[in-house]
Amino acid sequence: MNICLLVIVFFCVFIVIVVSGETCTNVCEWAPWHESSCSVTCGGGTVYRNRGLCCPSNLNVHDCLTNCGKDYSDSQDYLTCNEKCFNGGSYYSGSCHCLPEYDGPCCLDHTNECLSNPCLNGGICADRINEYNCTCVLGYVGVNCEIDYNECASNPCQNGGTCEDHVNFFRCICPSGFYEDLCEIGICHPQPADMIFLLDSSVSQTELNFMKQLEFVSNFTDHVLIGPNDTQISVIAFSSDAIVEFDLTTHNNNISLKKAIQNIKFNPGITRTDKALQKAKEVAVSARQRRRPNGKRARVFVFVITDGMSTYREKTKQEAINLKKFSPDGIAAIGIGKQVSHQELRDIATSSSSSPYVFSVDNFDSLYTMVTQLVHITCTECSRSSVSDVILMIDEYVNTSNAETLNGFSGLLDSASKLIRLMDTLGSNDNDTHISLTSFSNTVRTYANFSDHLSRGELLLTISKIPHVDNIISNVSAALHYINMDGFKMAYGGRLGARKFVVVFTNGGYNLDAVFDLERNKVLEKGVKIIVVGVGNNIDVDYLQHIASSPYHVIVETEELYNNLDILEREFVYDACDLDFID
Ligand SMILES: *[C@@H]1O[C@H](CO)[C@@H](O)[C@H](O)[C@H]1NC(C)=O
Ligand SMILES: *[C@@H]1O[C@H](CO)[C@@H](O)[C@H](O)[C@H]1NC(C)=O
Ligand SMILES: *[C@@H]1O[C@H](CO)[C@@H](O)[C@H](O)[C@H]1NC(C)=O
Ligand SMILES: *[C@@H]1O[C@H](CO)[C@@H](O)[C@H](O)[C@H]1NC(C)=O
Ligand SMILES: *[C@@H]1O[C@H](CO)[C@@H](O)[C@H](O)[C@H]1NC(C)=O
Ligand SMILES: *[C@@H]1O[C@H](CO)[C@@H](O)[C@H](O)[C@H]1NC(C)=O
Ligand SMILES: *[C@@H]1O[C@H](CO)[C@@H](O)[C@H](O)[C@H]1NC(C)=O
Ligand SMILES: *[C@@H]1O[C@H](CO)[C@@H](O)[C@H](O)[C@H]1NC(C)=O
Repeated sequence: MNICLLVIVFFCVFIVIVVSGETCTNVCEWAPWHESSCSVTCGGGTVYRNRGLCCPSNLNVHDCLTNCGKDYSDSQDYLTCNEKCFNGGSYYSGSCHCLPEYDGPCCLDHTNECLSNPCLNGGICADRINEYNCTCVLGYVGVNCEIDYNECASNPCQNGGTCEDHVNFFRCICPSGFYEDLCEIGICHPQPADMIFLLDSSVSQTELNFMKQLEFVSNFTDHVLIGPNDTQISVIAFSSDAIVEFDLTTHNNNISLKKAIQNIKFNPGITRTDKALQKAKEVAVSARQRRRPNGKRARVFVFVITDGMSTYREKTKQEAINLKKFSPDGIAAIGIGKQVSHQELRDIATSSSSSPYVFSVDNFDSLYTMVTQLVHITCTECSRSSVSDVILMIDEYVNTSNAETLNGFSGLLDSASKLIRLMDTLGSNDNDTHISLTSFSNTVRTYANFSDHLSRGELLLTISKIPHVDNIISNVSAALHYINMDGFKMAYGGRLGARKFVVVFTNGGYNLDAVFDLERNKVLEKGVKIIVVGVGNNIDVDYLQHIASSPYHVIVETEELYNNLDILEREFVYDACDLDFID
């Protein structure tokens, strides 16, 4: 008779169960595996299984195994079971590895709802029982702060500006002619203006220079609104003859206008500025008789770009006088080229204390910087604000070859006094425009700083007493160094938010040293405008332009044009045009 032995190995305890019956047929054969159940339902349990050996009945277990040639190891086995993890957990190395907010052997326990960072875009998570609550940063909304709030929803941009939505802010893309955050400010008060440009195509101009004049006019159109109710432009090119390339009403939008400007041809010849002024008068006369579709009359401006070397100077002067009767709003003369005749420019331009319209630039590339200045001219009704701190700096070096006729050093003092008087008459009063008074050679001497609060009268008295200490060197670098270190310091009465100006009075022509560029750049980076007034008859305008912050910050005072300073008034009191000012 055979006896089946069921060999069970459990926790290393060897148990023999003798089973009689039919389970095993042949001696020394293993019975089939005997299953047991999994110890857990998830998270990885263990299941054991065992089987017995069919032994001859006369042998004990040990002898049976030996006899049958088996060992215990094959009688027992275990397997892992239910390797199951919940909520995204994963099973490895014998246990569940849960996502941050879950815990427990099967990842069934919800720990902290915020650990998964459910709040997007910088939102702050607050843990609640089995839920969370996001507090979003400004600009985002939604349960998880997933929605970028549309700041453009309220149509904040004015004057046709396009709104660009960003996180917690918006940006207005302004149509040409408007600026500021909401496009609420117009570059130019949109009052209709007629602008007649006279371009010099004479032999003294190269074709390249002429092209740059065209580019200049084209650039100018970017700064004004072109249209039947706004700005209209006419161009007259002149050399031996003057040709009205197009009239004011020919081009009523910027695109066709620009195209027409591009198509104007260089046509060299002698310089009949007189004919150009005569043509300009005809255009101006018809402009003055016309009303715009919106019922308004336009103001009429004439811009003459020339080197001032006309062939018939007397005729030019006469035609300029005729033209002035028909364009009372202003004639600007823009001197270009190396050899500009300032006298002729002044003959051409309107000159009154409130509209001094002579500009000079020594090369065409500088013309661009003047565009803004020209636009300002058309904004004479703009609101004025004049909180400015102005440092007057008088160059102690006197170059006698330039200055003789203007009494040397005292000529510079006179010029500075004149500017102070002008400020008074032009409404930039003591409270708005503060003035500091210095002189410089290789060092800077201060006669009045902002905190001294001198009245205009006291300033004039102080100027008249400034001694001429030094005549060795004109060190503009030292002057600029003073501006950088001390000039506008609050300790010396400089005001936060005030516009800052330096006006250098010099008779020019001294070499600039190695540190000059460095000092000048520092001054400009501070937002300070440097205006240079050259006093004398032999002034090297190039030198002045090296120092000045822009070409139109150069003023030349010679004996004939000894009253040119009033151009500065616009600088000191000008403020942006305010669109509310519509008549
Ligand atoms: C989330 O928190 C805010 C601020 O504490 C509260 O006003 C709001 O009712 C909360 N929302 C939920 C869903 O708990
Ligand atoms: C013309 O003016 C419009 C609107 O002011 C502007 O969007 C466009 O770029 C201008 N076109 C040219 C060619 O300057
Ligand atoms: C000019 O103004 C008139 C009256 O305000 C208006 O009817 C017309 O449409 C305007 N024209 C343009 C091109 O804006
Ligand atoms: C015209 O404008 C362009 C681009 O703004 C500038 O580079 C160029 O110097 C300007 N030209 C003149 C003559 O002002
Ligand atoms: C300047 O300010 C003072 C003090 O605030 C004031 O009394 C004076 O009237 C002001 N002067 C002018 C011209 O505004
Ligand atoms: C300039 O400012 C300083 C400091 O406020 C002051 O002591 C000095 O007297 C002022 N005047 C001059 C002419 O330096
Ligand atoms: C001018 O002054 C500056 C600053 O004080 C100094 O560095 C420079 O050497 C001076 N230049 C001359 C030519 O003396
Ligand atoms: C004085 O002025 C003349 C004429 O502009 C110039 O040639 C000369 O270089 C100047 N001298 C000095 C030292 O600046």
